[in-house]
Amino acid sequence: MILLKIEILIEEAIHALQTKIDDTAIIACSGGIDSTVAAVLAHKAVGSMLHCVYVDTGFMRKNESEEVKEMFTKMGIELKVVYASQRFFAELEGITDPEEKRKVIGEQFIRVFEDEQKLCGAKYLVQGTIAPDWIESGGGDRDVIKSHHNVGGLPDDVNLMIVEPLREFYKDEVRKIARELKIESSERQPFPGPGLAVRVLGDLTPIRVEACRDACHIVEEHLQAAAAAGRCDLPWQYFAALLPVKSVGVHGDARVHGETVVVRAVSSLDGMSARYSTIPHDVLTEISTEITNKLKGQVNRVVYDITHKPPGTIEWE
Ligand code: XMP
Repeated sequence: MILLKIEILIEEAIHALQTKIDDTAIIACSGGIDSTVAAVLAHKAVGSMLHCVYVDTGFMRKNESEEVKEMFTKMGIELKVVYASQRFFAELEGITDPEEKRKVIGEQFIRVFEDEQKLCGAKYLVQGTIAPDWIESGGGDRDVIKSHHNVGGLPDDVNLMIVEPLREFYKDEVRKIARELKIESSERQPFPGPGLAVRVLGDLTPIRVEACRDACHIVEEHLQAAAAAGRCDLPWQYFAALLPVKSVGVHGDARVHGETVVVRAVSSLDGMSARYSTIPHDVLTEISTEITNKLKGQVNRVVYDITHKPPGTIEWE
């Protein structure tokens, strides 16, 4: 596969999509590299037969919805944004098990899609599933490591024919295709389909998700600035997760319980294995200070994860 030229891979993928899709298709565009590449390929293959939909689940990063809409507009592809956070929060109330969260999110996602499908009459669902998604979700004899929401979370009664143009590719290959297609998000770090929902361990309340969103934003800003200034390499993936661990902190004279943020930054090729990134201590200090200032009263402890994958995973759930 590596020997094949990228242009040939792209042509083949477009051709395969043209032979598979003979009616209206719909795609969930998260703005991430996988779904964007799948959307651009499918749009090239079938043009306006493809309906691109972006679902704001409430678990997106800061300003993400607006930025994704703008990216698609610039590429000349119409993107419908559906704001559905209330529905997701309602269905996830009281659910803390990570696999259960993924299943509920996958299911709600598809329900939102069914509404959109009825509106546009789509028969096909194009998905940006890549090889690690289904390998880690238990293909053949492999154990289920984690059910990725665009695979394991699919309800059995889904009424659309699934088309997965990137199924055989690994992340680095998808990135090469994205560069070739001049997709703006080609250098963006990966972001899980269920979004911040898998970075907020424990209860998914709007307040806890907002705290995680702020913490992720701070980590992104500081590491991007540090990398641009030559203080460290930009990690392959870098974010914050909110832990369900409370610890004692000090506010003035009072001892109060606050939540914990873990900062995660790793280098990797395709997410299948990873090494934790060595970040200069002064950069970590700046991150910690800004997180505890911004989230004063809620978060009083910031820790840095120094675990490789394996034995850890990149995300915390
Ligand atoms: P892990 O945590 O399994 O992550 O080491 C490997 C890569 O996959 C991303 N990830 C997900 N992507 N749905 C996704 O679409 C998911 O449920 C999911 N869980 C993890 C993770 O961000 C990393 O890039």
